[in-house]
Order: sequence, then structure tokens, then C-alpha cells
Amino acid sequence: MVRFLVGLAALASFALADITFNCIGYPSTANGAFGVSINGAITKLATSDASFPVWSGAVPGTTSAVVYSYVELDATGAALKTESFQRKLNQTTDISTDNEFFERPITHHELTRLPYTYLATYPSKSKAFKEEQIATLHITAPAAAIADMNSKPEAETDVRVTFRFINANTIYTQTNISFKTSGKSSKEYAKQSYKLKFDTDFNQTFFSRPNLKLRSMATEPTYIREKLYIDMLNSVGVPTQQGSYVRLFVNNEPYGLFLMVDDIKKSFLKQTVHNGDNAVIPGSLIQSNAPSLDVQADLVYKGPTGASYNSDVYISQNLGNNVATEPLAQLIAFMLDLQNYNPATTPDPVAYWNARLDVDGFLRNMALEYLMGAFDNYWMAGSNFFIYLNPKLGGTGKWQWIPTDFDGTFGNGATVDTKASYKTLFNFQPDHPLVSKLIINTPLINTQFQQILKEIVSTAFKPEAMNARMDSLHKMISLDAQWDFTLPRKSPGKDLKFTFEEFNGNLDNITREMSGALKPWVQDRATSIAAELAFTIPAGVADRVAPPPRGKGKGDDDDGSDKGGNASANSGAGSLVATGLAAITVLASMMMTLA
Ligand SMILES: *[C@@H]1O[C@H](CO)[C@@H](O)[C@H](O)[C@H]1NC(C)=O
Ligand SMILES: *[C@@H]1O[C@H](CO)[C@@H](O)[C@H](O)[C@H]1NC(C)=O
Ligand SMILES: *[C@@H]1O[C@H](CO)[C@@H](O)[C@H](O)[C@H]1NC(C)=O
Ligand SMILES: *[C@@H]1O[C@H](CO)[C@@H](O)[C@H](O)[C@H]1NC(C)=O
Ligand SMILES: *[C@@H]1O[C@H](CO)[C@@H](O)[C@H](O)[C@H]1NC(C)=O
Repeated sequence: MVRFLVGLAALASFALADITFNCIGYPSTANGAFGVSINGAITKLATSDASFPVWSGAVPGTTSAVVYSYVELDATGAALKTESFQRKLNQTTDISTDNEFFERPITHHELTRLPYTYLATYPSKSKAFKEEQIATLHITAPAAAIADMNSKPEAETDVRVTFRFINANTIYTQTNISFKTSGKSSKEYAKQSYKLKFDTDFNQTFFSRPNLKLRSMATEPTYIREKLYIDMLNSVGVPTQQGSYVRLFVNNEPYGLFLMVDDIKKSFLKQTVHNGDNAVIPGSLIQSNAPSLDVQADLVYKGPTGASYNSDVYISQNLGNNVATEPLAQLIAFMLDLQNYNPATTPDPVAYWNARLDVDGFLRNMALEYLMGAFDNYWMAGSNFFIYLNPKLGGTGKWQWIPTDFDGTFGNGATVDTKASYKTLFNFQPDHPLVSKLIINTPLINTQFQQILKEIVSTAFKPEAMNARMDSLHKMISLDAQWDFTLPRKSPGKDLKFTFEEFNGNLDNITREMSGALKPWVQDRATSIAAELAFTIPAGVADRVAPPPRGKGKGDDDDGSDKGGNASANSGAGSLVATGLAAITVLASMMMTLA
């Protein structure tokens, strides 16, 4: 043990003299490169097939006091562009830099988090979603296959790609990963949304999150609506997709800024709903959509077999205890129970619903739909949710609500009166009985719903808490959004051509295409529901419950070291390519811990 420590100390003190620099950059010229500029002297950095677009190199004689900038070089090594700002190392003990994106001064951002309203259902650890960094996704594939996929988004052609994920301390590469266009209406946009699937049966994995969506955010200019919605879902302790921003490059071409989120598949149930517990055998999971305005996932009973239901409305994503020929059987039984339920005559409505449904989780979800004006989800549109028969709830399992797709919020989409009561959201056709029967027409459940609204608005959904969160997200993505707005799009379809002015402006003001602005929205909703339910929103920002234990509520997806190779609960075959210095950093930090 002593010898081990001495060895590490020697390694660290030796290495302190030579700092290794790591710049993420795509050369703009053929055979171009990147270098680091220190006191006017440029050192060219090197890349390789295993690390591109990360350019690395040690500069002899540098110490952790070094001040530096990265510089783009042409094929002859001449400087084309030098960063307009200077960088410093974070810690005096550092012997290498993070992987730092060219012309982005900040790698680790500081986000103001929302307070926790209810105890969290918390996902298993994963390095996939470090929300305080903007990771780089470097995807390569045959050019013709990519062009074909982008020109016909609705075909959802499966292109097999080489995938590389780069964040501050990790470079993670896997080959033969499925890459497709994703979504329904999002396919109508020139900036597509995509999905990535790692085939765990073939030992492919990505930090225990094998199913991902890259959300284009093309329908709204702030690029934070969906992220804020996910933040609120986390605050109210319901299982949800996580989300973090990434820059996407395909075959070295910039595609822009995306929100990377979980795609809700069986792996999501395991990692998020069941906290990584491999012993749970997941129940029925149904994806529910509205293919058109009059064909909705309203949960109205229409007949005893799947034949009575539109096959685009309810899609089985996990069979659970259903037979393959009737994958909706358990959901149909639930819809029949909902039809048979009469708020006026069914004895003990609360017990009736508690036996079948995670009522609390459902009500928290509906409270958020109302508060954030989720015009494309269940309450208003009969769409964009999953319903999951969680075998661990109650004695024999209960249905649990898992929402998805939150770009159509805060006045993106239908005009919603921000000052109106939740009761006025209810006047829709067709009926959505899980809202009308439970929330509107069952007094005891209505009381519970109003209490939830009160607790959420008193804790997290109020200007004091939300505005600070918005500002920090806005600041973090500002340079990348600005960059994104300039990029050529790759697909046919709508391009709303949002601008940086609208990106900034829509926080406070209604801008083109939007019927709401974020901060006034929160202000109006919070104030009017407080008036309606006659409560006072307390001043200050404080957790109502203790934050989730791991990571003290911040960077909770961080599992400490960035080794990354042991990424999956299912298998360990991920090919990790890390720069040697990452390993040295880990050793050095181990030494710090031991000392
Ligand atoms: C500095 O390092 C600490 C510890 O690794 C990290 O939490 C923090 O985000 C870093 N700050 C910056 C500005 O890089
Ligand atoms: C790619 O993965 C699929 C499974 O997703 C497998 O069937 C196929 O053989 C793999 N191809 C290669 C070249 O490894
Ligand atoms: C996956 O890894 C396991 C354990 O290393 C191995 O037994 C299995 O053959 C691998 N499967 C595939 C499809 O490569
Ligand atoms: C919102 O509009 C007001 C009035 O036109 C203007 O003063 C303010 O700067 C705008 N806010 C933003 C963030 O653009
Ligand atoms: C992965 O990590 C787990 C828990 O830390 C450990 O038990 C397991 O041996 C590791 N597997 C590999 C392949 O390193």
C-alpha cells in the first residue's frame, strides 16, 4: 500500500510539469488541425481515429498556472483563428485540461436547480445525462445512407453508425448503433429529431441508457421549454425521462443543439422506474398518441379486444402479462373500469382508484399539464404519454403515468389563457375521462388535486424558483443556440428560422409563432391559481422535501470517476477509448482522496 502511494505521488509530481491540452474541434479546412497557444507560442495538437474530434498534446514545461487559448490551424500549421478569450486550469493539481470545445469558454456550467416538491423516484446512476455540460455527439456513417435518411424522414430508415460521445472527461465510442429519424409532427421540420438505439442483446450500451432521443426543439425559439418541463417532473418526484443538451455532428457536419432524452422503452422501466433493479420483471407498457385531432388516446373504452382500438393510438412497448395476440388486454380492462366508474354512485372512489392507479403520480402529472399548458399531452390532446402497469405498486401492481414530449408548452401551440382556472381546460371534445371523472367530478380526488397544485406552486412553480432556473439554462446554451440558428438544415420541411433575438426575447415577451412567454406565463399561472384556491405563495426558495440522497440533488447523474467502461447493468462490452491522461487524472484524484 505504501509503495502504491509513493508510486502515484512520483507519477503526479512528474506529470505536473507537462500539462496536456484537449480541444474538441472540427477543422474548417482540408487537413486542418487545432493547437494550443501559450504566450504567443503555438503547439499543434494531435488527434486519431479513436479520439477525433478531440485534439490532444502535452506541452513541455507548462505548469498548472498556465494561461492558454486554442487555435485552429490550416494544413500548413498556420493559425486561422485563435479563441478570443484565455483559459486557465480549474485546480492547481490538474495535469490536463478537460475536453474543451473550441470557442466555448465554459465546460462546466452552474445551473440553479429547482426545489424539490415531493420525494423523488430516482433513476439509476448514469453518466449519460450530466446536465451541467453540453456533450458532443460525433456520429459517422456512409454519406449516402445519411443523405437518404434525411431526405425521407418519414421512412425512419435505420442507419448503422459509429457513435462517439465526448464530455469533459469521457470519450466513449461504439460501432454499429441504430440511428433514425424520430417523432411524428417533428418529422415535418427541416431540423429533424433523431433516435439512437444501442442493442443490449448484442452487448451494445451507453451508460445504462441504451435508448435515446435527440429532440430538435425546432418548434420553439427558447430551447428550454422541454428541459424546464423535465425539471418540474423531477421536482414533483414522478418517474421521467432525463434530459441534457448535446451538440450533434454527423460526418463532421454540424447539425446543431439538441436535447438528449431517454426514449421510453423497457430499459427506461428498469433504469428509471425500478432504479436499476434487474430483478423486477416489467409489466405492460403502452405508448399512447393522438394520430389526429379526432383520434386520441382518450382512454375511453371502445370494446373488449384490441380490434376496437386504432393501432396508432395504443402501442404496446412491453407485453407484461398480456398474450401476444392481445397486447392491450390489461389496458382495456382498465378502460372498462374507468367506464364503469361513476363518481356519484361508485362506493369509496378513492379506494377504487388507489387499487388501480398511482393516483398521486397521475395527479402530479395533470397538475403540471395545467401549469405549463401542455397542449399536446393527455388533458388537452389525449396524446404523448405512456401508461405502465408497475408490478411493484400495491399488491398486484398499479398503472403509472409516464409523460413524454414537452415542446408544446408555455404557449407553444394552441393559445391557452394563462390566467384561467384548470376547470376551463376541461371543455374539450372528445372527453378525457381520467381527468373529467376523477379530477373534475370526484370531490375527494379534486381536493387532492388542488392540494397538489398548492404544494407545487408554493415550492417550485413560482417566479422566484423558475426564473432563476430559466436564466441559468438560457445562459448555458446561449452560445450553442446562437450557433444552431445559423446552421443549414438537412431535411425538407418547415423551418421557422428562429433568431437569437427570439431566443432571448421569448423569456419575457411573446414572439413570433408563440402565444406565450416563459416568465410571464409562470407569473400569471402561479398568481391566478393562488387566487382561485385562496392561498398565499410563500416567499423564498426552499426544498419542501429532502433532495434525493445521491449527489445531494445536484449533478445526480454523476457517478464520480469518468472511466465509463463499466457502463451497463446488462453487459460490459462497451469499447471505451479514453485519452491516457484521463486515466492519470483518475489516479491523481485517487491519490488526493487517499492523502
Ligand atoms: C472545477 O472542478 C470541480 C471538481 O472537479 C468541478 O466540480 C467544477 O465544475 C470545475 N469548475 C470548472 C469551472 O471547471
Ligand atoms: C450490428 O448489430 C446487429 C444487432 O443490432 C447485428 O445483427 C449485426 O450483426 C451487427 N453488425 C455488425 C457488423 O456487427
Ligand atoms: C455479449 O457478452 C457476453 C459476455 O461477455 C457474451 O457471452 C456474449 O456472447 C456476447 N454477445 C454477443 C452477441 O456478442
Ligand atoms: C420585452 O419587451 C420590452 C418592451 O418592448 C422590452 O423593453 C424588453 O427588452 C423585451 N425583453 C426582452 C428579453 O427582449
Ligand atoms: C462494474 O461495476 C460493478 C459495480 O461497481 C462491479 O461489481 C462489476 O464487477 C463491474 N464490472 C466490470 C466488468 O468492471
